[in-house]
Amino acid sequence: FLCPQIDKYLYSMRLSDETLKDIMNRFRREMEDGLGHGTNPTATVKMLPTFVRSIPDGSEKGDFIALDLGGSNFRILRVKVTQDKKQPVQMESQVYETPDDIIHGSGTQVRALELFDHVAECLGDFMEKQKIKDKKLPVGFTFSFPCAQSNVLEYAAKTGKIILTWTKKFKASGVEGTDVVKLLNKAIKKRGDYEADIMAVVNDTVGTMMTCGFDDQRCEVGIIIGTGTNACYMEEMRHIDQVEGDEGRMCINTEWGAFGDDGSLEDLRTEFDREIDRGSINPGKQLFEKMASGMYMGELVRLILVKMAKEGLLFEGRITPELLTKGKIETKHVSAIEKTKEGLKKCMEILTRLGVEPSDEDCLAVQHVCTIVSFRSANLIAATLGGILSRLKENKGVARLRTTVGIDGSLYKMHPQYARRLHKMVRRLVPDSDVRFLLSESGSGKGAAMVTAWCLTCLKCML
Ligand code: BG6
Ligand code: GLC
Repeated sequence: FLCPQIDKYLYSMRLSDETLKDIMNRFRREMEDGLGHGTNPTATVKMLPTFVRSIPDGSEKGDFIALDLGGSNFRILRVKVTQDKKQPVQMESQVYETPDDIIHGSGTQVRALELFDHVAECLGDFMEKQKIKDKKLPVGFTFSFPCAQSNVLEYAAKTGKIILTWTKKFKASGVEGTDVVKLLNKAIKKRGDYEADIMAVVNDTVGTMMTCGFDDQRCEVGIIIGTGTNACYMEEMRHIDQVEGDEGRMCINTEWGAFGDDGSLEDLRTEFDREIDRGSINPGKQLFEKMASGMYMGELVRLILVKMAKEGLLFEGRITPELLTKGKIETKHVSAIEKTKEGLKKCMEILTRLGVEPSDEDCLAVQHVCTIVSFRSANLIAATLGGILSRLKENKGVARLRTTVGIDGSLYKMHPQYARRLHKMVRRLVPDSDVRFLLSESGSGKGAAMVTAWCLTCLKCML
């Protein structure tokens, strides 16, 4: 089975430069729409003001706790920031399990609150281990879901963050529209064995931009390409209708995962994308995320393989119960299959585990399917990122944009070719630019601590 035949078979997944430029323009329109409407529920790409007005300037210091919930791991960190030139930031962290039944909820309010009880319990355990249970350290909370400021116009310290909707694997019902800070504070109070001051709630994209901004002052965009995908960037205040004031800039959480939820990507969605959506916990939502992020990539490949096998194009038409089981091909398998040297061997192992008795030709074909699916993801994200970069360039009124993009997420980090493909396509789509991609080695916790440090010194604005 030759690769050109697969190219033809998956024709609709291969996006030309022209199509990508078109997607970039569509996304720019969605951004403008979201900026104009703020948290108006009719805007598809929400463009949420974050009240973060600049990246770290090196003056931040203190002893903080950072909670990091919403990616593939729930992590708690202790972040000490000093003015020490050699090692300004020291971090210790622990990953905690989050049981599936809590993540998915069961349709009752009680179940949803259990998630916050669980966070409070893990925080208690962490403080115990750190021997700080008697202290009241400021806490920065990276909460990787769409949240809006609860009382935007007051700008008061410690105003909460209202969770608008759950995304990715989370569906703890009953808390949408509720203040995350209140929920967590309540859970902590209920325990009564320690105190904590939740100072800031930030999206993971913002945490990532701030983490990278600590090392590179040019950083003005943060992206996540992991379980989910999203980006934030520094927008001119004069363009943000929802927030008063025209001076300076503010970080906007785009929530680009919802791009397409109004039908604007219908011509590009394939039968496989529709099947993924139908089988998801949030049909009709996060349609761009479902085409591009790590949570869905393995499953997209599996659906394609099933169809090809049914048509006799793979495995001599053999279809096994394993191949038909949802979730049996994961994104980490796609990454392994696309490795340059041992990819084909890995492919043979993975397919053999599915019981399909693959030939060498089958393995080559499956490797090519993986390439098309992951390439499409990198291209789609290059297009939306291109939209942000071209907007930044226009905002600054420069002929050539020089900027840094802080980036994190398991798909970007683990896939052997992804980063290179993304960088290359971004440079092609926004030619008049020098873009530095800076991987956040330490996750978003450090950035959340920076925002918390500001809240401590300012106490009247940002969050
Ligand atoms: C981590 C960040 O490094 O990456 C998290 O600290 C973020 O805040 C995560 O959510 C995203 O990656 P993934 O693949 O775990 O969803
Ligand atoms: C989802 C969330 C978003 C988050 C992204 C990456 O798209 O809605 O808030 O930033 O995943 O984790």
